[in-house]
Amino acid sequence: MNYQAGEIITVTAGDVAHGGWCVARPDDGPVVFVRHALPGETVLARVTEVTSRLARAEAVEILAPSPDRVRPPCPHAGPGACGGCDWQHATLPAQRSLKAAVIRQQLRRLAGLDREVTVEALPGDEDEEPGAGLGWRTRVQFAVRPDGAAGLRAHRSHEVVDIGECLIAHPAITELGLTARRWPATASVEALVSAGSGERAVIITGRPASTEGIKADSVLRRARAANHRLTPVRGRGYLSQQAAGRDWRVSAGAFWQVHPGAADALTRAVMTALEPRPQDVALDLYCGAGLFAGALAPAVGPAGMVVGVEADAAAVRDARHNLRPWPWARVHRGDVAAVLRRDGQPGAEGREAGGAGGAGGGALPAARLVVADPPRSGLAREVIDYLGAAEGSAADGSAARFAYVSCDPATLARDIGLLAARGWVLADLRAFDAFPMTHHVECVATLVTR
Ligand SMILES: C[S@@+](CC[C@H](N)C(=O)[O-])C[C@H]1O[C@@H](n2cnc3c(N)ncnc32)[C@H](O)[C@@H]1O
Repeated sequence: MNYQAGEIITVTAGDVAHGGWCVARPDDGPVVFVRHALPGETVLARVTEVTSRLARAEAVEILAPSPDRVRPPCPHAGPGACGGCDWQHATLPAQRSLKAAVIRQQLRRLAGLDREVTVEALPGDEDEEPGAGLGWRTRVQFAVRPDGAAGLRAHRSHEVVDIGECLIAHPAITELGLTARRWPATASVEALVSAGSGERAVIITGRPASTEGIKADSVLRRARAANHRLTPVRGRGYLSQQAAGRDWRVSAGAFWQVHPGAADALTRAVMTALEPRPQDVALDLYCGAGLFAGALAPAVGPAGMVVGVEADAAAVRDARHNLRPWPWARVHRGDVAAVLRRDGQPGAEGREAGGAGGAGGGALPAARLVVADPPRSGLAREVIDYLGAAEGSAADGSAARFAYVSCDPATLARDIGLLAARGWVLADLRAFDAFPMTHHVECVATLVTR
């Protein structure tokens, strides 16, 4: 039987699928990816999309609810409404179990590995804490409708939902009152806050007549053309963030983890994964403002070396600023793939470190320790090749170690599979619920050479 968009069907949701869906397999129709359902629930679902292979639908009435179901805290989290959250209708422990199931499933399918996965709550989101899972998002981009109202997009849609207040947004963002204003001649307005320092910035894409009355420390304009360049309207254009026991300068347009507890938790996990020692040589690929490089630098000491690689010009400036206390830490500006392809001798820094960069490191030194935190698309092929050329162990016999920080379990699993075929072993996998209420999750995989 073929479904039609808009049709109401009765389905029983099966396993969770990557992206915030449950999969239903009706006897008489195609596989259906259902939103707003939980595994095991029988629901009435409205079909939203039909392709030649599958249908998508959203649960509009729950006929047999799961024990994990709760009333969503936000009135805009539901069928046909805001697309920002995926799992508001599940308890927080159930959300973490769903994410763990997705990671496990992706590892099995794409890397051929079967292992238990636990998703850890970040500070502030333990189940019994008041407001757990809410108020964590320190960066929110509001889309603006033609009538100037700012809101969030509906799921898989350009429609802008007038949400008023976003419950997962940090209170200091809500306090800016951006959704209460009209934004003529504006495509989007983005707010960010440093949970540590309380500093706030607002980035406006477009040309509103006035930016008066915006209570942020910095206001910037993002050009629609010219590479989305940011121009400060007022303020210094960066925030002071706190993590790993120190301050970090992070430009408004540069990457920083959005959950207030994430940068700390991921840095600790990376340090545990890499076990850095004095004299080690370490790479921080896709280094952003230098968070992991800045934690590794004091650990490897002046006899060691840390090299970050980052494409975004503002992030490179931040990273160079943030790494100033350790002259043995530096940053290459450029595309990671291009930097790794660049002509040069292996160990161009003149080191015989062995380990992961033992061959073909291009402009980068041979490094025993590598951390990579790529965007959703995962590791560039050149990173896989670079790690694949690992010599197994450094001169003293200690194994090369790779910490893979990932925000996408599918590309993480794909890359772990590719690395496993090149002699790397998955030694540990931690996962953090850095995005409660959504389907997103942050992982830190530890891989070592055999
Ligand atoms: C997920 S962030 C990680 C940043 C940093 N590790 C942190 O935790 O703050 C990924 C970073 O990779 C950068 N990036 C994306 N694609 C890149 C590429 N092809 N080459 C170099 N850097 C890239 C982005 O600008 C961003 O700063």
